[in-house]
Amino acid sequence: MKFKTNTLHYVSGITLSIFIGVHLLNHLTALVGAAVHIKVMQLLRQIYRQPVIEVFLLVIVAIQIASGIQLVWRKRKKNSTFYDKLQWYSGLYLAFFLIVHTLATVWQGRQVLQLDTNFYYAAIVVNSIPVALFFIPYYLLAVMSVFGHTAAVHYKKTSAKNIVNAQKQARLILIIGFVVGVLIVISLQESYQGIQIPTEYYKAIQF
Ligand code: HEM
Ligand code: HEM
Repeated sequence: MKFKTNTLHYVSGITLSIFIGVHLLNHLTALVGAAVHIKVMQLLRQIYRQPVIEVFLLVIVAIQIASGIQLVWRKRKKNSTFYDKLQWYSGLYLAFFLIVHTLATVWQGRQVLQLDTNFYYAAIVVNSIPVALFFIPYYLLAVMSVFGHTAAVHYKKTSAKNIVNAQKQARLILIIGFVVGVLIVISLQESYQGIQIPTEYYKAIQF
């Protein structure tokens, strides 16, 4: 049973990483302009918005969260290193983020508010005080958790061969995660883009 949860988490994790990698690269394209980001997203949506693929993606998200929580629960009493803790806490944050984020986009944004959940939907929450005080760290921590989780996996898989290199590479992955997170948050700023978010998106921050 132990073997099964690990394998499930590993296989669905690798599959989900493909979406996450492409999704974050899509966000980085906003550094060259919101219009470029939107164009790339429209292309990508032709793949991940196909009902079969989208349902598969959401099932994988649920599997990742459920299996990850089970792994943390099982290992909670074991002696842990820094990288074990990084794995657990980044995983727990990802569980929180994935639930809130997918509900906020797929359900709240699209079904309830009837918005196109594009660049502006992501940007509105980091451009308006006070909600930005929550959403800037919320996005930044999400990206850092993806990289933190990856750094922990990488460290565990490579430290037996060469611990010094494993540590250096894991630290580099963490630094890249921080930089990518900051760049994505910057790319979402109205002042960076020199644009104004369309007024219909303001209903997303009216609670
Ligand atoms: C973004 C989604 C996630 C991805 C891509 C991902 C990916 C992975 C991968 C590839 C591993 C390595 C498995 C192995 O060593 O064979 C792993 C391990 C682990 N993950 Fe995740 N994971 C994600 C989310 C989560 C969540 C939400 C949690 C917990 C709430 C979690 C907790 C763990 C734990 C505790 C381990 C260590 C397992 C061990 O030491 O055997 N992960 N993850
Ligand atoms: C700063 C970071 C992020 C921003 C601004 C952001 C923004 C968005 C937006 C606007 C959508 C809607 C896409 C669409 O309508 O086509 C979306 C969807 C989604 N995002 Fe993110 N995201 C970020 C990071 C992440 C991360 C780190 C993960 C995973 C760990 C993630 C997982 C997802 C998933 C699963 C969907 C649902 C896709 C679907 O079924 O349509 N996002 N995100």
